[in-house]
Amino acid sequence: MSESPSARRESTFALRVRDLVTTFRTDAGEVRAVDGVSLEIAPGRTLGLVGESGCGKSVTALSILGLLPERLAYVESGSIELATHAGTRDLAKLDEDAYVGVRGPEISMIFQDPMSSLNPMMTVGEQLTEGLLAHRAMSHEAADARAIELLRKVGIPAPEERVHAYPHQLSGGMRQRVMIAIAIACEPKVLVADEPTTALDVTIQAQVLELLRVLRDESGMALLLITHDLAVIAEVADEVAVMYAGRIVERGAASAVLAAPHHPYTRALLRSIPSHALVPGASGEARKKLRLPTIAGTVPALGAWPSGCRFVDRCDVAIARCREEMPPLSPPPNRAEGGEVACWRGYDAGAETGVEASAETRVETGAETGVETGAEVGA
Ligand SMILES: Nc1ncnc2c1ncn2[C@@H]1O[C@H](COP(=O)(O)OP(=O)(O)OP(=O)(O)O)[C@@H](O)[C@H]1O
Ligand code: SF4
Ligand SMILES: [Mg+2]
Repeated sequence: MSESPSARRESTFALRVRDLVTTFRTDAGEVRAVDGVSLEIAPGRTLGLVGESGCGKSVTALSILGLLPERLAYVESGSIELATHAGTRDLAKLDEDAYVGVRGPEISMIFQDPMSSLNPMMTVGEQLTEGLLAHRAMSHEAADARAIELLRKVGIPAPEERVHAYPHQLSGGMRQRVMIAIAIACEPKVLVADEPTTALDVTIQAQVLELLRVLRDESGMALLLITHDLAVIAEVADEVAVMYAGRIVERGAASAVLAAPHHPYTRALLRSIPSHALVPGASGEARKKLRLPTIAGTVPALGAWPSGCRFVDRCDVAIARCREEMPPLSPPPNRAEGGEVACWRGYDAGAETGVEASAETRVETGAETGVETGAEVGA
């Protein structure tokens, strides 16, 4: 686990994923669920990863953590650089044995459903101390004390008693807090949270998000937050990456992307959301309405992506080029806040770029699908 001087100089990131390709072996052959994803998170920052169901968010997370279903899927190419306590390591090159030393002390993950991740046969305390004993040179007494301290830290009342409880004896919100306590037990540099609040009611969601934010600020860990909930992005994320059909289609500062989305897909996601609900601290009732709105048409099935831009069959501002060439992720020339967007014309609806979808060049898709990507687009 040695670190080169150049690696030490470069470690301004906590996690840097470059051109990640993750492939599933299916009966119909090999198909890419994640196809060239790049992400970067600095220490102490939160990157929100958002997109419709099936776009590849969880597969991205599982690829980073080395938790892909064995024999079914593998990281085909790309790098997953993690700034560990001992220097930068490329997780894409690790085998399972090496991952064991990284998962927990360097990077960890919490899932949507704590019941499927917690062991029903072990007490909360046993599950909390397991990682501590494995990764830290700690006595059992010290690990037990640390387990109670961690439960207190994540807001579990009467931690001295709850440490002896089994998962089924706790409420859903408490189980999620226990999951978080286990995930942060060894003080990882990066925490990946895959829909951590989706299964919780709105009040508890807000508490758990606040807890994640406090823990992030206290420890300086980076947070990769996967969510369907755009209000969560507004509330917690510094940066956002919007994913569609295995690729990132837009990314940038969360405030900039939410205020002025450039990609037709991001615009479609945001179109039906009341803007006041995206203000950090929006009420619980407003948040309830913020599940991703339905966009006409569906994410194409794995391996059945159209050529060119994968959004083309749902995009009402598509032009002929969209079917021919995949748009690269590149900086929109007219966004002062920076960011990147993968669209031949979506970054400014054509007006400033001089691109107009004429009747001849326009691909007839929106009319069929009923997709409207915002009146401002191409209007
Ligand atoms: N075990 C598996 N075998 C085959 N395909 C899979 C498997 N797991 C995921 N996939 C496919 O990979 C693609 C991406 O799935 P993924 O779970 O990453 O989506 P997601 O963005 O996390 O969606 P959701 O919001 O529903 O959690 C989907 O098309 C899914 O069908
Ligand atoms: S305008 Fe073209 S490149 Fe942009 S999102 Fe629509 S189909 Fe894709
Ligand atoms: Mg998922």
